[in-house]
Amino acid sequence: MSEPGIENLLHEERTFPPSPAFTAQANAQESLYGEADDDFVAYWMRNAMERLDWITPPTVALDDSDPPFYKWFTDGELNISANCLDRHLANGGDKVAYHWIGEPGDTRTLTYADLSAEVNRFANGLRSLGVEKGDRVAIYMGMVPELAIAMLACARIGAPHSVIFGGFSAESIIDRVHDAQAKMLITCDGAWRRGSVVPLKDNCDVAMASSPSIEHCVVVERTKHGVDMQEGRDVWWHDLVESQADTCEPEIMNAEDLLYILYTSGTTAKPKGIMHTTGGYLTGAATTHSLVFDIKPDTDVYWCAADIGWVTGHTYIVYGPLANHTTSVMYEGTPDYPDKDRLWEIIAEYGVTILYTAPTAIRAFMKWGAEYPERHDLTSLRLLGTVGEPINPEAWMWYHEHIGGSTSPIVDTWWQTETGSIMISPLPGITATKPGSTTHSLPGITAQVVDMDGVPVERGEGGFLTIAKPWPSMLRSIYGDDQRYVDTYWTRYPGRYFPGDGAKLDEEGYLWVLGRVDDVMNVSGHRISTMEVESALVDHDAVAEAAVVGATDEITGQAIAAFVTLRSGYEPTDKLHDELRDHVGMKIGAIAKPRTIIFTPDLPKTRSGKIMRRLLRDISDHRDLGDVTTLANAEIVQAIAEQAEAQTEDD
Ligand code: PRX
Repeated sequence: MSEPGIENLLHEERTFPPSPAFTAQANAQESLYGEADDDFVAYWMRNAMERLDWITPPTVALDDSDPPFYKWFTDGELNISANCLDRHLANGGDKVAYHWIGEPGDTRTLTYADLSAEVNRFANGLRSLGVEKGDRVAIYMGMVPELAIAMLACARIGAPHSVIFGGFSAESIIDRVHDAQAKMLITCDGAWRRGSVVPLKDNCDVAMASSPSIEHCVVVERTKHGVDMQEGRDVWWHDLVESQADTCEPEIMNAEDLLYILYTSGTTAKPKGIMHTTGGYLTGAATTHSLVFDIKPDTDVYWCAADIGWVTGHTYIVYGPLANHTTSVMYEGTPDYPDKDRLWEIIAEYGVTILYTAPTAIRAFMKWGAEYPERHDLTSLRLLGTVGEPINPEAWMWYHEHIGGSTSPIVDTWWQTETGSIMISPLPGITATKPGSTTHSLPGITAQVVDMDGVPVERGEGGFLTIAKPWPSMLRSIYGDDQRYVDTYWTRYPGRYFPGDGAKLDEEGYLWVLGRVDDVMNVSGHRISTMEVESALVDHDAVAEAAVVGATDEITGQAIAAFVTLRSGYEPTDKLHDELRDHVGMKIGAIAKPRTIIFTPDLPKTRSGKIMRRLLRDISDHRDLGDVTTLANAEIVQAIAEQAEAQTEDD
């Protein structure tokens, strides 16, 4: 028998058809695919008209006169905060918008009426400090309601926001504030994280010393640990809003006016300021939130357990849910504080019906053990989602069984900061799912896997993920760098958007996103996805989490280096090392056996929880590691590097 190639690498597949009961009540219908296939522009126009309130309804849907600078709904006018708040007040102002839970256990409930009043007051406060339509406002906060309030207030007065994740350093604030030339910075004194204070205002003080564009800093009092307030520059949030009226006339925004900038990492050191505009973005957010999460505004309690500092939180904690008049849970802290059942406790207490989280979190829950969710009644859950990285089938199955009670559909949603909203996902009640596959493009989205020459591949083949047609919530450019926008996304496959991911189309036409293209290894001429090897490793009972990178190898081009964390009760022995290599060989084929396996108590992760594969590649190749201080767990890096050195010496 010959060595299996990529076409044989996918796991034994199981298919989960939708349950008739779910289908009977689903928001989505099969016919949406046909409607969008017939005329994708008309499909999006219909959604824009039906789902949003326009001050001036658009007559033009797509303007493709200057590709790749596509525009949508160009003659339409609207205000996003009015769509998220004002229009719900007449028929449900007393409905809860957010059940907010602080990490120390304090809670707040904000109805739509409460939220509207807070947003209007703060919008007036911003105006009183001189913020005008078009001015950029940087926001660096923890997960408190004021973060959503600040974003909506910016949207109300037409000031694009730039949210900077609260885990970033002062340096990162400086870069982002400088790039956007932000006029205002909104922060908290501190944020709670596992019982300690993250000194957000102190970081802002350092950043502002090198950020001449910032005129004022508004500070929410959260941790009350005492911070410096600079006279004339810094203002307490509560002082600012105290005397403000709770009505503020919304700015009339063109559909193509900038709503926000969100910075994301690219292939260079300089983060890219991804630009999202008003009408198209909200159309994408509202449509996908309703269809993918099957939102029933009157009965659902929805929880996107992401941080608003990332795009997932922008679209699926703030804009999508509020546009759809949803009741959401918002949680300030981490899932393991004070104990590892915090999420499950909250779900039981609030009767959460829909949970959206990341595979990394699910793998952590697996590692901690099923006894934590088993302590709580999770039967209110009826739909689960995942996002952010490929989910290995084992984690999918664990989520399905231990959190979803083996009945809730799982939507594995593929999208990016750049796409603004979900692009590829099952439609619950409609799509039969396969663990690990993100299934199909949503209606109105044309994802295609292409080969090196940009030609769509046949079923059963792998290649590069591309999007063949523009969509309303697409990024419009990179802030201040149109050329980088063109070069990064539209040059490799002219006429197609290239997100940087590898993917495979299976025999049944299902999409499997295999990870970033730079994470796909080439071993002896065989392309092997890091995710495939990771899935095989975590499939072993001993393995809690695994990361795999392509290390340089003189003979085979690349060789597979694996980094593994073990479940409690397992010891890192030579015997287990060999057993795991054989297990991978057994699951995938000899070609996929790791050259090295390093056991480590944790994997180096960014503060957003992503595994730092670049660092693992550097360790594998014994390169200088540079600055690792921005990692969530920097201390682990040195330990792994020493092990890697020791292993090389043994060899
Ligand atoms: O590689 C893909 C991966 O995450 C990248 C986008 O990252 P970011 O802009 O930070 O946005 C994350 C949240 C939307 C993609 O290029 N990715 C995201 N979702 C999935 C995924 N990979 C596989 N499956 C997914 N469901």
